[in-house]
Order: sequence, then structure tokens, then C-alpha cells
Amino acid sequence: MFTRTFPGMPILRNRLTKRALRPALTLLDRRVRRGVQPDLDTLRREVAEMRRQQYAVGLLLDGTGRGAHRIPPAAEIDRLVREVGDVSDRGEHARRSVVVAFRTVVALEALGVGRLAGSTSNICGKLATVPLLSPPNGSILEIGTLYGLFASALVRMVHRAGIEPDLTIVDPLAGSQLQPGTSQPADPTGTPVREDVVRANLALGGSRSALEARIQQGFSSDPAVREAVSDREYGVIVVDGDHSMEGVAADLEWVEKIIAPGGIVVLDDYGDQAWPGVQEALDKHLAGGTSRLRMLGRVSTSAFLRAD
Ligand SMILES: C[S@@+](CC[C@H](N)C(=O)[O-])C[C@H]1O[C@@H](n2cnc3c(N)ncnc32)[C@H](O)[C@@H]1O
Repeated sequence: MFTRTFPGMPILRNRLTKRALRPALTLLDRRVRRGVQPDLDTLRREVAEMRRQQYAVGLLLDGTGRGAHRIPPAAEIDRLVREVGDVSDRGEHARRSVVVAFRTVVALEALGVGRLAGSTSNICGKLATVPLLSPPNGSILEIGTLYGLFASALVRMVHRAGIEPDLTIVDPLAGSQLQPGTSQPADPTGTPVREDVVRANLALGGSRSALEARIQQGFSSDPAVREAVSDREYGVIVVDGDHSMEGVAADLEWVEKIIAPGGIVVLDDYGDQAWPGVQEALDKHLAGGTSRLRMLGRVSTSAFLRAD
């Protein structure tokens, strides 16, 4: 008996051919296995090594102990660079500024006491944009500092742009974050909001401007607090204290009086769904038509304004 092959019948399905070829196929199979196995072993080792490295990087950058992670995807950074470039009209330096801001955030949070508040995009957006807007002087006022790490980072960013900063901070520094009408959950850092903590964070910079910073304890709505820090025209004011509609409206009214001509006002959390009063207050403030402040635009969830 013989097995017929028909046109189109694959030769390897023919029993006789199979039998004849079996020793060669077995040899080939062994060789293929021998060739593939080392590749698989190498891949396994490489994946294990990558996981190990990724885990260590995760420890440095994940959200444990600070709430927000610091691992932005490329698309988020690209978008931030576009937004910073649009607001500042100096798009050619936007990427450099965003990347330097990111490194500053990571370094300060690694060594600092407490944390910076907010998403990586919003923090880096504020830090990257301010120096590119060429503020008219280096006097910086931050209303609402929490742990002082943002102020510490901003001082560095402005200094890098060639402006020697002097810093004033207003915050009740009452042990924990205060927000009227809300009860704030325990901070993920477990660190108290206190002046000594802010000082420790400012000292990380080591520059004269950070070490000699003026810290005015109290609420920005307090006339005595206002009087104590209204002794100069500020080149930059960051409004990040009371986030209620009334609180932001009151801060904006005050800020109008102490911002230098050409000065930059940063309103944090503008457009953030968690703090609707912030946008409401600024939109109403500008709709009045008598403000010295002009809206330059928005980066992440911060509004940027320039004073006439
Ligand atoms: C969102 S945190 C500031 C975060 C900080 N700017 C940062 O970027 O890391 C708000 C801070 O403002 C403080 N605060 C609340 N009401 C204030 C007011 N009327 N004047 C000044 N600070 C106020 C809070 O206690 C808290 O420390």
C-alpha cells in the first residue's frame, strides 16, 4: 500500500514523507529549542531587573506620604509645555522651565518636611510660568503656604531667571490646613503646619532670600496682617489661602493694592472642580471692569494675571 499525494496536499502531511523526515525534524526542533531557550532566559532576567528598578523609582516618586504621585506621563508634560508657552509668549523656553520645575519639586519633596500641595502639573505649571513672565521685581508674596515648600521652589525658579527674590508669606500656620466651611482630612504627610516647619523648608535652599524670608502668621483678611506686609509693591503674588468665593474675592481686592505695575498674580486652583469658589470669585472680579488685573491665561489649574 502506498500513500498518494495530491496536488495541493502539504508534503509534511504525507505519512511517508513525515517518517522519512522525522530524524531531521527532531534535530531541527532540538536546535530551535536550544536557540530560543537562552533568549527566553535573558528576557526573564531583563524583565526582573526592570521591575526591580521600576520599584525603586516608584518609591522615590509615587504618592505614598504626600497624596499625589510625581510620575507624569509624557503627554501630560507635553500639554503643560504648550500651556506654559501660550501664557508666557516664550514658548522656546517652556520645556526647559517645566523640566527644571519638575526636578525642583522632586528634590524638595525628597528632602523637605511635609509636601507641596496639588497635582504635579499644577505645581510645575506655576513654577515654570512665573519666571518666563519676567516679573518687574523679585518681591514675592505667597498667601497660604502650608509647609512652605512651594515658596521655597518658587524662590529658586525666580533666582534661576536672574532675579534675586525676597519672600513674604502669610498663613495662620495653625497646626493643620484651615479652609473655611470645610473640614480638611488629616494630611497624608502627618506633618504639622507650623512656622518651624516652613523655616526648615526655606532653609533647604540656603540662599539669603529664603533664609531671611518674612513669615507673617495670620489670615490675609486680618487688617493687622495686611498692614504688616503692605510695605512694598510685589512683583509676584500667589493667592492660595482661603479658597471660598468670599475669601478669594477679598484677597483679589487687597492684591490689587499691593501688586507692582507689570506684576504677576497667580491664582491657584482656578477651574479646579474641588474649589468652584476660586473661579467664581475671579470671573466676578474681572467682570466688574475696573480691575488693574488682566487675565493672561490658564496653565493646568492656575490662572495668571498681569497688573497694569
Ligand atoms: C492649599 S494650602 C497652600 C499650599 C501651598 N501654597 C503649596 O503650594 O504647597 C492653603 C493654606 O492656606 C492657609 N489659609 C487658609 N485661609 C487663609 C487665609 N485667609 N490667609 C492665609 N492663609 C490661609 C491654610 O491653612 C493652608 O495652610
